[in-house]
Amino acid sequence: MSTPRTVSHTGHDDLVAVEFTVNGTTVSLKVPARMTLSDALRDNLGLTGTHIGCEHGVCGMCTILIDGDASRACLLFACQLDGAQITTVEGLGKPDDLHPLQESFGRHHGLQCGFCTPGFLMSSYDLLDHEPDIRREDLPEELSGVICRCTGYRNIIDAVDDVATNHRDGLPGPKNCGQRTLTGRSPVGSTAAADESTAASDTVQDSAPEKISMPSGEPTIAIDVTTLLESPPQDVARVFANIQLLARCLPGAELTEELGGNWYRGRARVALGPIKLSFNGFAHLLEHKSDRMHVLGQAKDTGGGRAQAEIHLLAVPEGTGTRLQAEARVYLVGRIAGFGRSLAGDVSRRMFEDFAKAVDQAARGEEPEVGSKPPSAFGILVGAMRDRIRSVRDLRRKAPGRQANNPHEER
Ligand code: FES
Ligand code: FES
Repeated sequence: MSTPRTVSHTGHDDLVAVEFTVNGTTVSLKVPARMTLSDALRDNLGLTGTHIGCEHGVCGMCTILIDGDASRACLLFACQLDGAQITTVEGLGKPDDLHPLQESFGRHHGLQCGFCTPGFLMSSYDLLDHEPDIRREDLPEELSGVICRCTGYRNIIDAVDDVATNHRDGLPGPKNCGQRTLTGRSPVGSTAAADESTAASDTVQDSAPEKISMPSGEPTIAIDVTTLLESPPQDVARVFANIQLLARCLPGAELTEELGGNWYRGRARVALGPIKLSFNGFAHLLEHKSDRMHVLGQAKDTGGGRAQAEIHLLAVPEGTGTRLQAEARVYLVGRIAGFGRSLAGDVSRRMFEDFAKAVDQAARGEEPEVGSKPPSAFGILVGAMRDRIRSVRDLRRKAPGRQANNPHEER
């Protein structure tokens, strides 16, 4: 591996520009000096195939290739990699054209829970690439730099030995490298747009950006929910017209400043069990009518996480009440992005239900209960999990032949 570049006189949170190639795509980023390569790959480029276990160079989960040699992505700072050629597990093969190593891991049942698999694949690739004549009895020691928590080493050794035996004349190269857009889970994009969007999201707490540019990749959370309010449309329209009142309906949110031109500054707090998130940021109302709204939001968490959201709200007459519909695309980076997508989606949907209830209250002329106090998001989470368990139970009950097979099951 080429020697990592030295970055001198840089504060740990200073942004450093770096350009490298990942799986054939040239990437330009501005990243905090202390950001590890594994975090940059996962959070900023959406390449979540690189797994993180120990973050101390012990477990080998984060193994990738740098300039053709296996390296621990958790032990390198992204800003050191200027000019490097990086290959991650995503570059190894395509779903319909797997690399022989991937194919062999599947055939030999070497996957188990799969958490160590990217590290094993990249380590094995490095090994067979450098030592195509490796003997089977040497494999356990040569691959001991990756730890499988399932302790399913036997099948992994079988899989690697099979590929070694069949490719003594040379291992096929990575099959999925080429120019593509890497946007992933982060508002920090790649290639030419990266610098601009990084700058926008990192200055979010000081001044409003000129505009909020949403990432083009798949959102972390996509929500499309509808709920029925008892209040008639004209009362709901009154709430829509009053931005201060509407903000008080949002669980944990607070509008702190009206900046003019439909720009607002605000903060939002969410507590998911022991994790407390406090976002400060801006909202821009692109459309504001009595029955619809289109909002872009961008915020930064005090712990370094970032969020961007695009929300469409629609209030449609239904019977004597109003059907409230929300569509949102939410992009998360940092600690909160570590939550499972579906769980984060459940929590967001529950928060929307609370928001809808509060809008109904406000439309009746009452003060909304949720907005003024911090959200009991732990309760929301527990509620969401309870709903999940219920729906799984319901599905099981509905499964054909269920009763016949389990006559003593709970009725
Ligand atoms: S996460 Fe890098 S070695 Fe464990
Ligand atoms: S397959 Fe589970 S950690 Fe290795």
